[in-house]
Amino acid sequence: MSNAHKNSLKSLPSWAALDAHAEHISSQHMRDLFKEDPDRFNRFFTEAAGIKLDYSKNRITPETMSLLMDMAREAKLPEKIEAMFQGKAINTTEKRPALHVALRNLSDESIMVDDKDIMPEVRDTLKQMDQFVWRIHSAQWRGFSNKPFTDIVSIGIGGSFLGPKLVSASLKPYWNNALNCHYVANIDGSHITEVLKHLNPETTLFIIQSKSFGTQETLENTKVARSWFLRNGGNLETIAKHFVAVTANTEAAIDFGIQQENIFPMWDWVGGRYSLWSAIGLPIALTIGMDGFKALLSGANAMDTHFRTAPLEENLPVIQALLGVWYGNFLGADSHAILPYDHYLRGLPAHIQQLDMESNGKSVDLDGSPTDYTTGPIIWGGAGANGQHAYHQLLHQGTRLSPADFIIPLQSHNPVANHHAILFANCLSQTQALMQGKTEQEAKQELLDGGLSEKEATKLAPHKVIQGNRPSNTLLFDRATPRTVGALIALYEHKVYVQGAIWNINSFDQWGVELGKQLGNEILHKLLKEPSTNELDSSTEGLINLYNGQGQST
Ligand code: F6P
Repeated sequence: MSNAHKNSLKSLPSWAALDAHAEHISSQHMRDLFKEDPDRFNRFFTEAAGIKLDYSKNRITPETMSLLMDMAREAKLPEKIEAMFQGKAINTTEKRPALHVALRNLSDESIMVDDKDIMPEVRDTLKQMDQFVWRIHSAQWRGFSNKPFTDIVSIGIGGSFLGPKLVSASLKPYWNNALNCHYVANIDGSHITEVLKHLNPETTLFIIQSKSFGTQETLENTKVARSWFLRNGGNLETIAKHFVAVTANTEAAIDFGIQQENIFPMWDWVGGRYSLWSAIGLPIALTIGMDGFKALLSGANAMDTHFRTAPLEENLPVIQALLGVWYGNFLGADSHAILPYDHYLRGLPAHIQQLDMESNGKSVDLDGSPTDYTTGPIIWGGAGANGQHAYHQLLHQGTRLSPADFIIPLQSHNPVANHHAILFANCLSQTQALMQGKTEQEAKQELLDGGLSEKEATKLAPHKVIQGNRPSNTLLFDRATPRTVGALIALYEHKVYVQGAIWNINSFDQWGVELGKQLGNEILHKLLKEPSTNELDSSTEGLINLYNGQGQST
């Protein structure tokens, strides 16, 4: 047996048991599981940190959960959870901790990294953010023509974009000032052009968001923003009033021309996709205020405490994660849908895509051996109820198994007519339809009742069968507040970590994005007609020629 197989997840005793159990479960329909157990909802319901989880509409029995918990313990999950909170170098390939939980540690406890307590720096940066937000909101900090700021432009990509944008949009009801907040991420010139088009440089503040301060898209966009500023009334002296930066690479930011006092630090032990809790979250604090930002942190901290202390069997991130392992590794699911039934949370799927897919889109385990089992799923989704008129057809009648998280507040921020009751009814009816489906007999009877002939009804009925037995989780909270949004995102962060721990992979590096960057630099030389000796495949060469107007010879 090769090293890969020797240490493989498949060698755990629970793997064989779950494999056998999957055979058993495959022949069971959730309709019957609900009939056999009137208390199924209560049995598979739990809550923590303001988040309620109904996981009864899953293809599980108590035995399933017990076997999954066995796997978690065999994979040393409790020890791995503790290792994260204790700042161990669980990001093994970069030899770093993954301590996003430290960013929301509101207690006075120390957290040590390399024998140094990192909490003083975290607290100082929170104070720096607080002062900055206050100075902007109170118009103490003004632009070069002495006007208060009206617009914030956050320039960043990936975790330096998705997290702050999602959270700020999720908490729109809590925006407590007149500031407009814009984001520039893409290197497509249309993005920054559309943002700058309507702005006044006198009253625009740029936040350059980049942990590495080396991301091409962000640096190129910052150069455009800077030249726009200098062309429209700004000068080298007044840049300091209009440009601040959030980075772990202070030196590069200073080299770029950002004043040292305008730099908010972040640290190597915070991954980009886990960084919205750091000063990368400045757009959040500028829109909802520092009290709101601290409430966001405290919500995440409440989920952290739950994750660290709750028994695995009652642990929301653990339950969510193990269900994903069950579907991905034993029932053949390749994707997972995130369906927020909340207009403000419509950006959640995009953030969780990076969080999950950049963390667990790996195929080599911690020992460097290829995994002989599947790992991170494809994350997709969108706002409900819109998705019901777009992709739910596949969820109901497609050939693929795609478990889905339905996420909905019990109360809307905007009680209009019966809208929230209708939205809530849609959310529940979708999970119910996915679970119970519609048999051919039921479909045919409906058609007969509708007046179709026996022949027509017999012909059409197969097309109206809904198999059902399609799993979903329903996550609820009272309202989408800073606390509950913080807890919800922390829940997904910990779910991702648990899955990575089970799959024995490193959830905190992202070597896969390096090759594209390297090849991109080579191709750019060719597109800019700079000297390059690089041999290219005929496709890339042909496409470059098209770009350079040397089209195809007809
Ligand atoms: O996609 C790779 C990546 O490094 C992400 O992990 C990160 O969020 C993004 O690029 C931006 O990186 P930075 O914050 O260093 O500009």
